Amino acid sequence: MSSSPLQQQVHELHALLSPKFLTPPQCRRLSSPICAAASAHPSNAKVLILGATGRVGGSTALALSRLCPDLKLFLAGRNRTRGEQLLRQINENAEFIHVDIDNMTSLEKAIDGKDIVVHAAGPFQRKEHCNVLESAISSKVAYVDVCDDQEYSQRTKGLHDKAKAANVPAITTAGIYPGVSNVMAAELVRLAKADEGEPEFLRFSYFTAGSGGAGPTILSTSFLLLGEKLLLKPYSGRLEIDFGKGVGRRSVYLLNLPEVASAHEVLGVPSVSARFGTEPMFWNWAMGAVASLAPPGFLKDRAKVEKLVGFANPLVRAVDGFVGEHVSMRVDFETTTGKKSVGLFTHKKLSVCVGVAVSAFVRAMLEGSTQPGVWYPEEPEGIAIEAREILLERAAEGTLNFVMNKSPWMIEQDPKRLGLGIYA
Ligand SMILES: NC(=O)c1ccc[n+]([C@@H]2O[C@H](COP(=O)([O-])OP(=O)(O)OC[C@H]3O[C@@H](n4cnc5c(N)ncnc54)[C@H](OP(=O)(O)O)[C@@H]3O)[C@@H](O)[C@H]2O)c1
Repeated sequence: MSSSPLQQQVHELHALLSPKFLTPPQCRRLSSPICAAASAHPSNAKVLILGATGRVGGSTALALSRLCPDLKLFLAGRNRTRGEQLLRQINENAEFIHVDIDNMTSLEKAIDGKDIVVHAAGPFQRKEHCNVLESAISSKVAYVDVCDDQEYSQRTKGLHDKAKAANVPAITTAGIYPGVSNVMAAELVRLAKADEGEPEFLRFSYFTAGSGGAGPTILSTSFLLLGEKLLLKPYSGRLEIDFGKGVGRRSVYLLNLPEVASAHEVLGVPSVSARFGTEPMFWNWAMGAVASLAPPGFLKDRAKVEKLVGFANPLVRAVDGFVGEHVSMRVDFETTTGKKSVGLFTHKKLSVCVGVAVSAFVRAMLEGSTQPGVWYPEEPEGIAIEAREILLERAAEGTLNFVMNKSPWMIEQDPKRLGLGIYA
């Protein structure tokens, strides 16, 4: 019998995530402190994943079930068939529950009694409410979302005092980018401050081959982001960035991502930007053309954008089949004294590493690294400074290349060695 595309995706993810593909040091990490703590706990932690039938939620469920098999997972979504397909790939410590996050009664029932809720039921763009966080606060359940929208993340911050008063820890924008990239930036800034100079400049550059195996939600998200106002036009300001081994030099373009505002505010860096690029090159041209030519208001209208996605989706899938789904994030930081440092993260499967990244945040929160309140990942109350290194180490599992706090020439693809330890 032939399997459905979702089943094939789940098989592929499962195969990549299974221990036989891990290198020995990564295998050793399977018995991490959180898992030990969770196993020692009589009832074990209960984790609710909203949007578990989607790419990010499903990948998070697979990562958590592999890394922390003692956690009890509740996979929530509106599509039981897809939920049950995912369940078959996960250890017996999981169940599917039907939840519509727009229905407060169904949501509250699902959240009640859990230890943490992971909100991956996007898109977050143009969402009018923060039902999930509101409900987590009233049920006194920890909260983490993978939001990639500035307005939404700022709205969750508006609930900070309420979360603090209820003693509920919450983190917004805790995926891979934004998420792990914010923590990388926070560490670069901290290390440079300890050393010399004040922050001057921070640049996030992201590359994903094809759609990165993204679901239709991400396609909508990408178009909706093109409709967001920037000082400069979205998908303009092209730069050629060297993502080092495995990816090389790629064109990236400005996008309005939440980490620009949060890093500026939290890390006190005067100049912050975020850029994104994809391949093949014609996807970049298409994104640029949509940003320039779409009639005013079109890219702010979710229904219209979803129609556009319906049209583009089959073509995107066909192209994905041959370009793969490499992902790379490069964070460049510079101080007022001119000291430059770089962090780089490259993985060959976005659909795998996004779940590993989210699971690293969940594990940190269960270990008590987050204070009550609503935080961005780069805030020390969000992820405690002492917990950053282990979070990055966990998130970097399976990467082709992961480096932190290096000079740019050290990570670029082909530094020329002139001899006597001198490079150009
Ligand atoms: N921060 C990061 O690093 C990062 C990275 C990637 C993606 N994202 C964001 O993560 C989100 C998910 O992306 P994805 O690729 O996983 O999308 P996806 O594959 O389309 O999945 C979206 C999921 O949300 C569920 N959902 C939507 N509305 C719902 C509702 N009212 N009630 C319950 N479930 C609902 C969908 O369930 P149904 O099957 O019932 O429709 C589906 O399971 C997007 O907003 C994306 O922008 C963030």
